[in-house]
Amino acid sequence: MRAAEWLIDPAIAYLNHGGYGALPQPVAEAAALVRADVEANPTDAMTRQWQGRVDDVRSRVAALLRGTADNLVFVPNATAGTAAVISSLGLAPGDEVVATDHRYPAVASQLGVAARRGVHIIETHVPVDIASPADIVAAVTAIVGPRTRLIVLDHVASPTGFVFPVRELVTAAHAAGVPVLVDAAHAPGQIDVDLGAIGADFWVGNLHKWVCSPRACAVMHVAPQWHDTIRPLVASDGYADGFQPAFDWTGTFDAVPLLAVPAALDFFAALGWPEVRRHQHALVTAGAESVADALGTEVAIADAFTAAMRLVRLPVTCTVTACSVVSRPASCAASSTDSGRGSSIRRIAAVNSSRIATRVPSSSATCRAPSVTSAR
Ligand SMILES: Cc1ncc(COP(=O)(O)O)c(C=O)c1O
Repeated sequence: MRAAEWLIDPAIAYLNHGGYGALPQPVAEAAALVRADVEANPTDAMTRQWQGRVDDVRSRVAALLRGTADNLVFVPNATAGTAAVISSLGLAPGDEVVATDHRYPAVASQLGVAARRGVHIIETHVPVDIASPADIVAAVTAIVGPRTRLIVLDHVASPTGFVFPVRELVTAAHAAGVPVLVDAAHAPGQIDVDLGAIGADFWVGNLHKWVCSPRACAVMHVAPQWHDTIRPLVASDGYADGFQPAFDWTGTFDAVPLLAVPAALDFFAALGWPEVRRHQHALVTAGAESVADALGTEVAIADAFTAAMRLVRLPVTCTVTACSVVSRPASCAASSTDSGRGSSIRRIAAVNSSRIATRVPSSSATCRAPSVTSAR
């Protein structure tokens, strides 16, 4: 990958690829052609050709993620996908949703909306220095109870870059009879996803982050048994016609990002996904080690739980309140951190001495490890 293939300003060392993605030059050019094609006859593109074009993109994305096209729909972004799932489930007062303290703020807000209706949100602490997938499974399943209606997990967590063992977690959750929503905003492209093997009920991933489609475009997988339940927040023409019709058209929008996804897939296919991922991991690891060396600290998360984003400890300590659930919430006296009138978000609190860390992301558009100077 050459820096010249990207639109990033060459004067800056752009290190936040995970934030919003970035556009490779060939994908930008392909998207411009798609736009010209759509604009040549908007009615034809958005009406007569629409279903065929969406279905073509769906097949390409299904192949990337090793999923079944029938289970996939597109949403503008991961936020829209997780919101659609959480709001479609008909969670009732007294129901419980289990999450971890790695969850993204938008998901926390969505769970907060449910909490205002009397749903109990229980967050468990997953330490970044956890040793094995089995320990993570134990931390999450320990707080599943008879009222648990949903477990919400990250695939690749935003603040830490921690790659969760979602397959093992889904297996354990299903053994307990609980469906799983995976916030996989960072997963497509960054890691090799096998939706069939993961078996999650709901899985939502952005295509504009690590697949580098134009912003904004995301894909959502919904297992067949939930097709009658999950609907978008916005009802439009196809809402009553079933799962895919309801999501395939939610009103007029900019179709170019979605229709340009195949160009982004072609760009990375030509480079070879395994090679791209190997390169990104090596690059970010070298960068993180270089930053850690300069700071006199260490890279915080074991290699096995990382991909293209790494966490580096900062040379400061502070006392924080970490979330740690050790038993059923009802039996925990000092449990509740309530976030508002009528809400019920419980974080079982334990005061920990914890060091502060910062995320160092790899960037598809960055060909060298970040210099220590730029990281300071
Ligand atoms: C883990 C995670 N979930 C959700 C989101 C939200 O993505 P979007 O803003 O595209 O909806 C992000 C964005 O960075 C994220 O990292």
